[in-house]
Amino acid sequence: MRAWMLDGPGAPLRVAELDDPRPRTGGVVLEMLAVHVPAYTDVVAQAGPRGGVPTPLVLGVGGLGRVLAVGEDVFGIAVGEVVAHIGLLTSDDVVAPEDFLTGWTGIGGRGERTPTIAAMQQRWRDGTFAERVHAPAGAVVRLPGATGAPHEALLGWFAIAAEALDRAGLTAGHEVAVLGATGQLGTVGVHLALARGASRVVAVGRNPAQLERLAALDPRVRPVPLVDREVTAAAIGEVDVVLDALGPTPSAEPTLAGLDAVRPGGVIVLVGGVRQDLVIPYGVIMRRRLRLLGSWMFRRETLLRVWRQAAAGVLDLRAVPLHTVGLDDPAAALELAATTGGSGFVVLVPGGAATRASDRRQARGGPDRQPDADGSVAGLG
Ligand SMILES: NC(=O)c1ccc[n+]([C@@H]2O[C@H](COP(=O)([O-])OP(=O)(O)OC[C@H]3O[C@@H](n4cnc5c(N)ncnc54)[C@H](OP(=O)(O)O)[C@@H]3O)[C@@H](O)[C@H]2O)c1
Repeated sequence: MRAWMLDGPGAPLRVAELDDPRPRTGGVVLEMLAVHVPAYTDVVAQAGPRGGVPTPLVLGVGGLGRVLAVGEDVFGIAVGEVVAHIGLLTSDDVVAPEDFLTGWTGIGGRGERTPTIAAMQQRWRDGTFAERVHAPAGAVVRLPGATGAPHEALLGWFAIAAEALDRAGLTAGHEVAVLGATGQLGTVGVHLALARGASRVVAVGRNPAQLERLAALDPRVRPVPLVDREVTAAAIGEVDVVLDALGPTPSAEPTLAGLDAVRPGGVIVLVGGVRQDLVIPYGVIMRRRLRLLGSWMFRRETLLRVWRQAAAGVLDLRAVPLHTVGLDDPAAALELAATTGGSGFVVLVPGGAATRASDRRQARGGPDRQPDADGSVAGLG
């Protein structure tokens, strides 16, 4: 079978011919149907997956697949079913559970690589940019009614934002601001907030064209350009929930603008890739009774709920623009992913045709994304 192999940190992803995976205890073999290629995949490949993931490995996190074979000790998952591989694998220990992303980062919930995670990585090494993968059953969610169509590959990103909004306690009628709304996580955050009945969704970001697209989704969406802290906070106005889905900004100011906009009793949830320290104003948090939360990946139940919303028509996965690519040209696929962001998710269809030139041209016709001063486009959660 063919797969995108990362030989070592900084090496280009290459198309490799590998032996077909065989079912082992606790796992299932999946034929990958559709896999989201995150906007910052090139950054991951360039720097080497964080946390010391062993290379060489097949890169790739999440995706939808059809079950080809089921290992021993796996119950309730049948050959032929379409499932989501969520990528997040958790240890069985209840006292001090640890988790990591297979085929992606080696860091767990505490942001460090432990002997437990290292051992789990050896066992469950490869990711999903491949025709077939051996997935741990504990990272698989059955999706009744799913077909593995490209848009369904976006469920993982929706679930990340959904988990964050769950943690924030978003309910119908709330007013919400999404920081980094022009990115992929921010874009799906806007869609979810609308689907959950938010009364006002403030989309905050740099890219005017993408902000306009978001504003066209629904009259409840109000675009706000990301400028300095004071002006941005004033433009947002008071909101109940702030979802920070920013990439690696050079300062904490955009996040603090969000904090300034939280109304008394409200909440800001950090789910993005900002790598700055925040100076937290004690008195403000205390007097305004604010909550400051973090959110990392999602529970399997969350992804299933998002799928049920989509299947019921409450959430339209197809409203998010998407480009499909095949396995033939990983460099072109990663470049496409880096340059489209929220205006066009890239989905790998491993069994499909080569990268479609028309998709590439269409994506490049869209707004170019601005790299940071160090040339990077985004980081990794
Ligand atoms: N917590 C988790 O579980 C989790 C899971 C996945 C990802 N993440 C993190 O979430 C972040 C966003 O992911 P994504 O898929 O949405 O990436 P993305 O599509 O690259 O979006 C990045 C967003 O950050 C904005 N941004 C980047 N650099 C900026 C800067 N210097 N100033 C202002 N805005 C800036 C981008 O604005 P433009 O559109 O103008 O470029 C865009 O809105 C990633 O960095 C990743 O680390 C976290």
